[in-house]
Amino acid sequence: MINVTGFRYCRLGTANLEETVKFAKDIIGLELVDIKDGFAYMRGDDRDHNIVYFQGDPNDHTVGLSIETFDELDAAESTLKEQGLTVHRGSDAEAAARRCMGYINFKDNSGNSIDLTVRPFASGKRYFPSRDAGITEYSHIGLRVTNPREAEKFWSNEFNFKTSDWIGWSALMTFDQVHHRFALFPSDRPGIQHINFQVAETDDIMKSNYFLMDRQVRIQAGPGRHSLSGARFVYYYGPDNMIYEYSCGVRMVDETWKPRQFPINDAAFCAWGSRPDLDILGPSSK
Ligand SMILES: [Fe+2]
Repeated sequence: MINVTGFRYCRLGTANLEETVKFAKDIIGLELVDIKDGFAYMRGDDRDHNIVYFQGDPNDHTVGLSIETFDELDAAESTLKEQGLTVHRGSDAEAAARRCMGYINFKDNSGNSIDLTVRPFASGKRYFPSRDAGITEYSHIGLRVTNPREAEKFWSNEFNFKTSDWIGWSALMTFDQVHHRFALFPSDRPGIQHINFQVAETDDIMKSNYFLMDRQVRIQAGPGRHSLSGARFVYYYGPDNMIYEYSCGVRMVDETWKPRQFPINDAAFCAWGSRPDLDILGPSSK
């Protein structure tokens, strides 16, 4: 069992690094921490960084998690190899670029690229936002998987992930108290489907909704309230058609929590009645 303790970062290729960094600063509200060797390090909380953008294929995505020790890293490498997965042990230079003391990378059965880091860097400086979006934390992602049942099994058998709820076959999973860190969405390709930042309160969601509309940023869904996690949300498109989400008030779960099955319909997605694009979740029950 691989014991994930931290939800750390994503690394995203982009067709236009300069424009994407500008969007992340001016629209999302992230702080540009550093640009080094073509990598732009950005964050929405006090950790070293949450997103790394680089000039490259916009479908090239990596998710960064953390585990506690180098012994656990060695054990994780063996476990994943036993599963027949390709595992790469990062060099010192590659670890330095990921701002951690060591890592391995593997591809899951869908082809998702995952970094398992050890001792990722904290920051001596507090987060200083580029706009007052109210961001408090980089919190979860939507992850595309080619077989959601198999992917759920993988993350719960090989890792300490647990399912908090299902919508259709999509599992919303976590390794800690936050209702979900991964939302597994059926897809014909791997990659990150959306990136979530928590904000402080519902007012921040509504303020950003008007801010985004004023700047003609395309809203993907919301404002609304997720029936599963209870979080208020708004989703919008960024460069390369990546979807970003602000949400607040996500439910916390503990060991007594029992996962619930929801159908795929508007009411399961949004308790307020916003009309999302449900195609991402697979065949609808409507
Ligand atoms: Fe989300």
